[in-house]
Amino acid sequence: MESVANQRIARLSAHLQPPNSQMEESCVLKRTDCRAKGGAPGFKVAVLGAAGGIGQPLAMLMKMNPLVSVLHLYDVVNAPGVTADISHMDTGAVVRGFLGQPQLESALTGMDLVIIPAGVPRKPGMTRDDLFNINAGIVRTLCEGVAKCCPNAIVNLISNPVNSTVPIAAEVFKKAGTYDPKRLLGVTMLDVVRANTFVAEVLGLDPREVDVPVVGGHAGVTILPLLSQAKPPSSFTPEETEYLTKRIQDGGTEVVQAKAGAGSATLSMAYAAVKFADACLRGLRGDAGVVECAFVASEVTELPFFATKVRLGRRGAEEVYQLGPLNEYERVGLQKAKKELAESIQKGISFIRK
Ligand code: NAD
Ligand code: LMR
Repeated sequence: MESVANQRIARLSAHLQPPNSQMEESCVLKRTDCRAKGGAPGFKVAVLGAAGGIGQPLAMLMKMNPLVSVLHLYDVVNAPGVTADISHMDTGAVVRGFLGQPQLESALTGMDLVIIPAGVPRKPGMTRDDLFNINAGIVRTLCEGVAKCCPNAIVNLISNPVNSTVPIAAEVFKKAGTYDPKRLLGVTMLDVVRANTFVAEVLGLDPREVDVPVVGGHAGVTILPLLSQAKPPSSFTPEETEYLTKRIQDGGTEVVQAKAGAGSATLSMAYAAVKFADACLRGLRGDAGVVECAFVASEVTELPFFATKVRLGRRGAEEVYQLGPLNEYERVGLQKAKKELAESIQKGISFIRK
């Protein structure tokens, strides 16, 4: 009985790592004296880059997710503060914070799902590829940690340029001998979220009733919405098709310009990332019929990576779906998307192989 109580107390007191956290225990009742209940059963999830513009709301939303039992928040700055804040939410997941490279391995050990929004965002006038020089190295280091500490975890990669960072991660995992293509997913969910919203606006529908597949990649013309496959089935005039395709492709730039130097999409991205992570966790749990778009290793085109609908299961992206019938506008878009994607993928591969 006493040892059960001790275990509970140990679990609670471990909520706020590192031990030198900004939290001071000034009151009479110390945290180690609390008769805490343990966390709910569920999955262990790490967020790398948890103190950032995406990381903070993403961490908050994951703390609210009933499928999460343990939530590890890692960043190179401000992880203790974000952890202290989020740990006060009265939801089931136990939260622990990890600060800086020396704590990366502790942050990753035992994780089922690792979500990576670490890296710099765009400013007006930049392309996502302009982030390559800084973010490529960040993603490499973090994925080396994943390969070492939780090689079987599902990885949701958000850091841009996704069209290159996913190939970088794949090469890191290959080098470490841990690569399982099913477990590495580039997050393109925000493109689908935007497509659903903008199409709903044009059709006068509730966005929750709309589902638009978005394929290809996650930058400019590589973002290819398949309006001909939208649900509910809808027809669009050529002007509507042009307007919607451009708006979905330029959605990120629209936010970057509106934020005028203060970063890129964070709140809608956190929403999209959690929607996608939740789908991954439902797949891990064994739910049937969990299907979302993601940028994954693929044989759908001649390119080694491509975003399409995938079926999420216990082992990650267990099935990668074909493109389905395209109209002439989409076929032209596909050629443009593939040309740019091929270069971005090769750039990522070369970064590790060089
Ligand atoms: P941000 O600058 O607000 O936050 C990034 C966080 O990463 C910071 O807290 C920073 O300390 C942390 N970080 C930096 N180096 C790190 C490292 N080595 N290890 C751990 N953490 C580290 O940026 P943001 O707005 O949150 O955007 C993050 C990334 O997500 C950017 O690359 C952005 O382009 C990308 N993004 C992708 C999508 C998508 O759809 N896939 C959408 C929006 C943004
Ligand atoms: C987005 O689509 O909002 C992100 O990729 C961020 C960006 O730079 O546009």
